[in-house]
Amino acid sequence: MTAQLIDGNALSRQLRAEVKARAAALTARGTPPGLAVVLVGDNPASQVYVRNKVKACEEAGLHSVLEKYDATLTEAALLARIDALNADRSIHGILVQLPLPAHIDAQKVIEAISPAKDVDGFHVASAGALMVGQPGFRPCTPYGCMKMLEAIGMKDLRGKHAVVIGRSNIVGKPMALMLLAANATVTVCHSGTADLAHFTRDADIVVAAVGKRNVLTAGMVKPGAVVIDVGMNRDDAGKLCGDVDFAGVKEVAGWITPVPGGVGPMTIAMLLVNTLEAAERASA
Ligand code: GUN
Repeated sequence: MTAQLIDGNALSRQLRAEVKARAAALTARGTPPGLAVVLVGDNPASQVYVRNKVKACEEAGLHSVLEKYDATLTEAALLARIDALNADRSIHGILVQLPLPAHIDAQKVIEAISPAKDVDGFHVASAGALMVGQPGFRPCTPYGCMKMLEAIGMKDLRGKHAVVIGRSNIVGKPMALMLLAANATVTVCHSGTADLAHFTRDADIVVAAVGKRNVLTAGMVKPGAVVIDVGMNRDDAGKLCGDVDFAGVKEVAGWITPVPGGVGPMTIAMLLVNTLEAAERASA
């Protein structure tokens, strides 16, 4: 069997077109949705990510500002910028690109963002809202994964066993909560889980978010399962690859997301969705 691809590029394009139409309507009513992206330091990967986020905003008709600061920026100065952005009525979403330089307490910075503008969904209030099923912003990557499941007709996951590999605050943990909210039975593993294959072989859905190649191989997957690959790694030839052994697993799975062109573009699309929703709530 050869798995069907879940095309993150196509799905993200569709979502961005919807955002564009809603953004145009808001702009016509006098509230152009605005996102502030804050980058501190010169991490090369972060520079690419923020450039892509700003470009996606422009293409969707969102107003965006990119604030770049030297790696020596003090924590106090960054907190003062967050305060100013919290008060800025033209800005509906604030994203501070991680990682921050070591002398800055990232969690403290995140907690300084108004939860109403926390489009990354990293604030403890956003995490709490997800936990108890209240409205709030959801972290973009797991939110995008849920949209991919929905796109293949898997919205209500009652009776399905989902295994999440990885337990980060920005992917694994919120992913597990979103799957639970969709009525799945959820197992959260990590790369050190003893006999990981025992769990994944029983799974109808596997989400791999470890950040290590070949975490999931063909022998670990139930035939027909849905495999979502959140990983972003490089193989020996320097080519982008995920956490999943794509060539092997695609022969067993029913559905699989590619890397690149899978979860990555969905993350950006969901950032736009969150920013638009922040603006819609602010203007309601
Ligand atoms: N660094 C890596 N991924 C992310 C993300 O989704 N948001 C932010 N703010 N920083 C990141």
